[in-house]
Amino acid sequence: MNILGIHFGHDSNAAIVIDGKIIAAVQEERFNRVKHSADIPLNSIDYCLKEAQLKVSDLDVIAISGQNIHKDFYRIFINKKEEIESDIPVYINKFISNNKIKIQSFDHHMCHAACGYCCSYFDNDKVLIIVSDGAGDDCSISIWKGYNGKLTLLKKYPKTGSMGWFFSNVTEALGWVHGDGEGKTMGLASYGDFSNSLDKLKIFSPYYIDGQLVKERNYGDVGFLKLKGAYHWHFKDANLIYKLLIQEKIKREDLACAAQKILEDEHIKIIKYWIKVTGINRVVLSGGVFLNIVLNRKICDLEEIDKCYIFPNPGDSSLGLGASLCAMLVFSNNYKVDYTPYLGPSFSSKDIEFILQRNKIKYKKFSSLDCLCKKVAEELSKDKCVGWFQGRMEYGPRALGNRSILMSPLNSQNRDYINKFVKFREKFRPFCPSILYEEKDKWLKEKEDDFYMILCFNGKNIDKIPSVVHVDGTLRPQLVRKKDNPLYYRLIKEFKKITGIGVLLNTSLNIMGEPIVLSPTDAIKCFYSTGLDILVMENILIEKN
Ligand SMILES: [Fe+2]
Repeated sequence: MNILGIHFGHDSNAAIVIDGKIIAAVQEERFNRVKHSADIPLNSIDYCLKEAQLKVSDLDVIAISGQNIHKDFYRIFINKKEEIESDIPVYINKFISNNKIKIQSFDHHMCHAACGYCCSYFDNDKVLIIVSDGAGDDCSISIWKGYNGKLTLLKKYPKTGSMGWFFSNVTEALGWVHGDGEGKTMGLASYGDFSNSLDKLKIFSPYYIDGQLVKERNYGDVGFLKLKGAYHWHFKDANLIYKLLIQEKIKREDLACAAQKILEDEHIKIIKYWIKVTGINRVVLSGGVFLNIVLNRKICDLEEIDKCYIFPNPGDSSLGLGASLCAMLVFSNNYKVDYTPYLGPSFSSKDIEFILQRNKIKYKKFSSLDCLCKKVAEELSKDKCVGWFQGRMEYGPRALGNRSILMSPLNSQNRDYINKFVKFREKFRPFCPSILYEEKDKWLKEKEDDFYMILCFNGKNIDKIPSVVHVDGTLRPQLVRKKDNPLYYRLIKEFKKITGIGVLLNTSLNIMGEPIVLSPTDAIKCFYSTGLDILVMENILIEKN
């Protein structure tokens, strides 16, 4: 069964699933270079079809996230060429559909739940799925049971119970973008103390007791602004929280800390309640709130939970995949998929050489990947900053060794260097380590496997890797196994041969404010507009003098 899934809206994206296998998935922002782009995902659909070598007429189902089919859908998917509406420019790519293709929309939260359920490592177990985001289809938090290929809705909480919007309003009051800067609030929280501002901030949050929303928060109307194709949301609470911050002279880090505490406390109450009433202690987390890796740690540590799976791309940027997986659950017998984040476009050495020659850029081509890894590991050990562009681009917000900026974790100044000269971002923000899987016990106190930087860990031996440790001694790791990313694994191994440390600092390859790079041209632009010393694309290496 050939299924195309599409998400229109914030972080628009598309995915193709064929007979229970994810073939391709990508966000539109990577093509049009606007972070969180809400444009119609024309490029993403086009890419997914090409990668799957399918025409629209080969599809069995087109699945769309959200209960209502987006108004633009029938403008780009048309039945016959002659029916092209005159209000769409002729140069826009239309997809020629037919009446045999089933077109089906799925509830926003069900799409989030399907991502978590189908991609989790739980096979035949009953699982409790918690979805939490700002809001989608008038719901902010939903609880599902997943069993035997079926998702059963247990509870939906309304928009007035949104913990995501609460946290985003605090984020906006701190001066960052709602729907983008929440990770900064979480990072800043580690520097603060919640005791003085907790009660004052609680006014702006919903409150739950025994699985019931006992205090709703009337967030009022959302103020929408579309800038360069991306949505910017605003609620009146952001103004009020900002006022509180100024009038009460609350420190920014203390406000962030209080917001983090409230977010954690409310989710923990909800999750404990649903474990108690269902008796299910295998938990799956999905929805944008679970990009909060500190919250995820608190949940994983609950003694009521046996095992917890966090979907690694939990925000709306996976809803194209989520819609495909809903269709898979409803229309086929498949209900499990192997998830990998490497689902985007790739480029051959030939493509890369062509671009470098056209731009008259000198490069060195390696005939052996061993020699390439040795050379790059050597440069990393000398504190060189390396752009690492390999294979298929990652789906989701994290660079996991295919579109990454790498540096040695041994030198604490490397963190400041990347913040100041490469990423141009706030000093307090931590970087993540990529750790050889077999070394996890050397660096991490807790036992879970995290291959996607989606969970926070208490660090061990942290004085040896200072540039990847947060102020509170925690790490946000990607464990790297050979089978998941053989070339990246090989590079870290080579680095270990030189330094004795099987860890690299890994952050996304992008220019500040832009999405992760997609193409060699994007990577070259990033290389020449930042303090990167070396750019490696496939087996080709470029160095700055
Ligand atoms: Fe969502």
